[in-house]
Amino acid sequence: MANDEQREYFNDEKRVKRWPTREPFTEVAIAPLLDAASLQPGMTVCDIGCGGGMATLQAADLVGETGAVVGVDISPAMVALATSRPHPDIVRYVEADAQTDALIGAPFDSIISQFGLMFFEDPVAAFVNLGKHLAPVGSLHGVVWQPMETNLSFMAHRMAARGFARSTPGGSTGQVGAFAFANRDIVDDYLVRAGFAPATWNLHSLIRPSRLDEVVTRQTLLLAGIDEAVVDDAYAEALKELEAVTDNNGTVHCPLEVQVLSTQLAA
Ligand SMILES: C[S@@+](CC[C@H](N)C(=O)[O-])C[C@H]1O[C@@H](n2cnc3c(N)ncnc32)[C@H](O)[C@@H]1O
Repeated sequence: MANDEQREYFNDEKRVKRWPTREPFTEVAIAPLLDAASLQPGMTVCDIGCGGGMATLQAADLVGETGAVVGVDISPAMVALATSRPHPDIVRYVEADAQTDALIGAPFDSIISQFGLMFFEDPVAAFVNLGKHLAPVGSLHGVVWQPMETNLSFMAHRMAARGFARSTPGGSTGQVGAFAFANRDIVDDYLVRAGFAPATWNLHSLIRPSRLDEVVTRQTLLLAGIDEAVVDDAYAEALKELEAVTDNNGTVHCPLEVQVLSTQLAA
């Protein structure tokens, strides 16, 4: 099956259990995503890679009871997490691979995604599939990360990329993973090949004051593939990198450097 590696990664019991502590950290990215989407009452929306459904629920507030929102995720455990949370009747969560599967509830006036577009092993095929599920005048909006080099909050990835792990978890542009859509030209190329217009891009630097353990712990370093034997060294390095953005009370002010893409099917 396509995207097996990502299904397994995001279905990992420890990762999903920890997800609710990750969500408040990236929740600041939902507002710029939904602003770009300009959702209106009555619209049909699909949230790709919905995870625990945080963006799905905010989209549901905007489209109201005459609208409908479908949260799609490849990970059964993520779908279970989202489904276990209170949600209005207009929200439905489904397990599906957005790259290959038919998506129930189509056609959608808007397809949105909060950090869920960067994990397709074939991004062009995925955008073709999403295009098939869009209403003719529908639009696609996704918030994705700018490069790892500018994103201090990805401390585990940064330490992995610096040689503390045997392999990097999607550490570079072009590789499947968090930073796969950091290069806007590459993404525009995928979009055009899939029948979309090149995206309009809006860049945002979002700050959410955080506790140190929300940014990095030995556990998150281990989850990122860092060897047990060097995890203390990696942790010490991470603290050094974070010094510049840590105030006297120990609060970390990491900017989340994100970009929101907006596009529609080419005329
Ligand atoms: C970084 S998480 C983001 C989750 C959520 N939107 C959030 O921001 O908290 C990426 C999500 O995309 C999902 N995902 C990855 N590949 C997918 C695919 N091919 N189809 C549908 N969902 C996918 C993962 O299972 C995961 O839940």
